[in-house]
Amino acid sequence: AIDITNLRSETGFITSDTGYKSTGATRSAITFLNGEKGILRYRGYPIEQLASQSDFLEVAYLLIYGDLPGKEELESFTHGITRHTLIHEDMKKLYEGYPEKAHPMGVLASMISALSTFYPDAHNTQLHPEQVNLTIRRLIAKSATIAAWSYRKSQGFPIMYPQNRLDYCANFLHMMFALPTEEYEINPTVVKALNTLLILHADHEQNCSTSTVRIAGSSHASLYAAISSGVCALWGPLHGGANQKVIEMLEHIRREGGDVKKMVEKAKDKDSDFRLMGFGHRVYKNFDPRAKIIKKVSDEVLNELGVDDPLLEIATSLEEVALNDSYFVDRKLYPNVDFYSGILYRAIGIPTEMFTVMFALGRLPGWIAQWKEMRDNNEPISRPRQIYVGPTERDYVPLEKR
Ligand code: ACO
Repeated sequence: AIDITNLRSETGFITSDTGYKSTGATRSAITFLNGEKGILRYRGYPIEQLASQSDFLEVAYLLIYGDLPGKEELESFTHGITRHTLIHEDMKKLYEGYPEKAHPMGVLASMISALSTFYPDAHNTQLHPEQVNLTIRRLIAKSATIAAWSYRKSQGFPIMYPQNRLDYCANFLHMMFALPTEEYEINPTVVKALNTLLILHADHEQNCSTSTVRIAGSSHASLYAAISSGVCALWGPLHGGANQKVIEMLEHIRREGGDVKKMVEKAKDKDSDFRLMGFGHRVYKNFDPRAKIIKKVSDEVLNELGVDDPLLEIATSLEEVALNDSYFVDRKLYPNVDFYSGILYRAIGIPTEMFTVMFALGRLPGWIAQWKEMRDNNEPISRPRQIYVGPTERDYVPLEKR
């Protein structure tokens, strides 16, 4: 339901729209989304074409700079990222301070924030294109290293330095899984699947984390600080954290004997406070096009890798039951991108607690593009208004008289 109340204040009208359900916060030329028809395009290119034909860094360039790169532009962009994959040796010491079971999202957010202390040049209020481009390349390159090392740390494994002869996705897999004693064998099916997942996550217009990046950046905080805020916003289970919760939910169903109907009933019960994870979306009132692609790619990849995951069967029957239930049909609740992404991440060996980190790596170019658009357009500082509903004026009462 649309909840808009126009209230007159001393300074004019204020529109009250909690959760920004109908408020356009900006004009943007980056991502087009039609939730009724299930359409998603980056800079005009259909997500289906990009997912099947492009790769992650090319899509990153498209989102950030507005057009597909030419051969030389792509080479220069890729090279610029490759040469910044190392992180400062002093940053390694920070890893020692985290507790053993530190969630990698917490590590990612704080490490990206820490990058701003190593590269204070990004704090300039006046942006210079060369400096902005350098920060963009540093961020994309170093976030992958930071993310992979956060996993190694959580497992007690020695860190793996990047190998810059490898492309972005292969290098990430190497830093995650290689053993110091053996040559890590890159599987092209896994690299392709990872590229697809990252592309599908790369932007989604003014969602919670992206709006956070734009709002934080609107104060002219550095790009590192704005992105770190976005990582924190993404972490929540109603947003990017849902992919981890989906797998935990499917595992729970499996442990309890596979009764998907019971879970659907629980999600319908308004007293239970439980939602079917991976279902529903603020904008899509039809199939999420990304979920359709992931489902198809999952089937292919599981087949090619010979993975037999019982959770896929549970997910498929859960989807079938929910889509035939009037509660979900009436509310137009369809599987979203997170419903099947966990199955695919599992198939390519990514551990569950890293799922939201993978989402963050994928969303990074979108966050950067949105931040850049906001700064290039000289948007003013974001500062929502409110309708005050607290007590009217009252006199202070000393402690002994309360
Ligand atoms: N399970 C059960 N009921 C649901 C679900 C769900 N997954 N999602 C929405 N509903 C119900 C609500 O209870 C509400 O019912 P009511 O009208 O009887 O009160 C109705 O559908 C509308 O839901 P809202 O909360 O108003 O929808 P909103 O747009 O605010 O929320 C959200 C969207 C947060 C994604 C929601 O659907 C949800 O919580 N889904 C589960 C978490 C999830 O999968 N998040 C990932 C989203 S995709 C992403 O961030 C990448």
